[in-house]
Amino acid sequence: MENVSGPALAASAASRDRMVSDVRRGLQADQKWLPPTYFYDAKGSALFERITRTPEYYLTRAEHALLEREADSIALAAGPRSLAELGAGNAEKSRILIRALHARGLGEAYVPVDVDRATLAETAASLREEFPELDVIPLVADMRREIRIPPAAPRPLLCAFLGSTLGNFSAAESQLLLSRLRGEIGKDGWLLLGADLVKDVATIERAYNDAEGLTAQFNLNVLSVLNRELGADFDLAAFEHRAFYEPRLRRIAMHLVSRAKQRVTIPLVGEIELAEGESIRTEISCKYDRESLEEILRESGFALERWMTDDNRSFALILARPE
Ligand code: TRP
Repeated sequence: MENVSGPALAASAASRDRMVSDVRRGLQADQKWLPPTYFYDAKGSALFERITRTPEYYLTRAEHALLEREADSIALAAGPRSLAELGAGNAEKSRILIRALHARGLGEAYVPVDVDRATLAETAASLREEFPELDVIPLVADMRREIRIPPAAPRPLLCAFLGSTLGNFSAAESQLLLSRLRGEIGKDGWLLLGADLVKDVATIERAYNDAEGLTAQFNLNVLSVLNRELGADFDLAAFEHRAFYEPRLRRIAMHLVSRAKQRVTIPLVGEIELAEGESIRTEISCKYDRESLEEILRESGFALERWMTDDNRSFALILARPE
């Protein structure tokens, strides 16, 4: 198993090469953009955890309540020997599922998958303490690449992909990711997907513009990651956080807007020029309804089996299986 105690996101030469090519491709585009992966270093992961507890960020609370309500019925329907979670973070949500599985004598193994090594190491340690019988098999991986759930995790497998993280990927990437996941899950496994639903714009926009400014800090943190990992010289004070809903695309777009005309140097990438008011798109967060989710699932080879929403219909949990 991989040692999960090292510090950096770009710990290996391969992941650094990948970061360089991601950044080059994104920052040389007409609308500059960056992939979501690089938000989640130790600091970004900690900031994101705080975002999930802000009054404005309804997603986590809604999903948590849904999981509490549905965990036992999910355990019963899926009956897995192993649970995996993509983007597990502190595995707060997986814990609910693990408890429900254990109550039914299921879920011997748990595979938390996360891009941040340090977060994953902490999560694994705390899970082993809470569940001494559980076989915890942490996996450091960027989900934009192929993810191999280790064979040491016995099948059938329930794969949880929560927090509406699917929405942070483009349609093409989402489909690729789900199709690959389908291969890992196999005929006898299940997918549990958490997805944020289309709703009034003000509610959605507030969730990405918390009054405490944590989302702004989180957004700017991606520039610190590039400074540290690639030796770039981004001046964080020269950028401003902006997040807004794009109704036609049914998604939040999050940008870092340049406060002035400026030039940034990123060794291995080159010089990047930004005009005053020009932005880097750092995140999208797509919002769904049942139809759009059914379509994405169908196109990736899944059949939607159960559709579960909270009373406000603000968030959905979907249980799907390969067809
Ligand atoms: N999956 C989360 C979402 O789309 C990720 C997220 C929440 C996020 N708030 C954010 C990502 C702020 C970047 C910035 O809602």
